Amino acid sequence: MRNLVWRRQVSLVGQRVTLRTPRPGDQAALERLRADPEIDYYMGVDAGGGALLWRQVFLGEHSGSLADLVIAGRDDAPIGLISLWDRSIPHQAAELSIWIGESYRNGGNGTEALRLALRHAFGALNLHKVYLRVLEYNTRAIRTYQKVGFHLEGTLRDEMKVQGRWHNLVYMGILGDEFASADR
Ligand SMILES: CC(C)(COP(=O)(O)OP(=O)(O)OC[C@H]1O[C@@H](n2cnc3c(N)ncnc32)[C@H](O)[C@@H]1OP(=O)(O)O)[C@@H](O)C(=O)NCCC(=O)NCCS
Repeated sequence: MRNLVWRRQVSLVGQRVTLRTPRPGDQAALERLRADPEIDYYMGVDAGGGALLWRQVFLGEHSGSLADLVIAGRDDAPIGLISLWDRSIPHQAAELSIWIGESYRNGGNGTEALRLALRHAFGALNLHKVYLRVLEYNTRAIRTYQKVGFHLEGTLRDEMKVQGRWHNLVYMGILGDEFASADR
């Protein structure tokens, strides 16, 4: 369920990246960037099964997510995607997911994109909590989430099978007032 606030056009400008509403012309670039086995590995999608799953994300009004926000570089071209998912909207909480294309990782883009997304989530979208699940072996993502203020809330044992092995999944969350203090 998406109300008018969630459908509003978004353009959040940072120093490195802009978060903005997707446009039809972004699709090809997003598909190219997302066709990356490293992203599959870190998101726990086994190669072969992933393509269908993620393509359903980027369907505008028919998207499975509440909000898809393109992470765009300085030239406005997509470098990645942040999505918010409707898991517990009656309780003003949403789940966040993020991926960034290979040549744009490790340079601070993820950190800035997450801060912009959280400002939007706790501001315009009036959420109380944003949470996410991350594979325990994805230490770079966990570090990035901690940097912007996410707290570890628990570990789900042997929750996902990736490349034939079971892995723990870490549950992390951040509340609006925690982000307000961390974002000063
Ligand atoms: C996770 C992701 C969004 C982070 O974005 P990014 O632009 O690469 O992150 P940043 O450069 O802003 O920050 C990365 C931080 O992790 C640190 N880091 C890098 N590799 C690391 C590792 N192997 N272990 C721990 N920390 C690591 C960096 O040093 C940096 O921290 P610092 O600023 O304190 O030095 C991006 O790497 C990505 O899309 N990865 C593939 C898909 C994915 O994992 N998605 C998340 C699924 S839950």
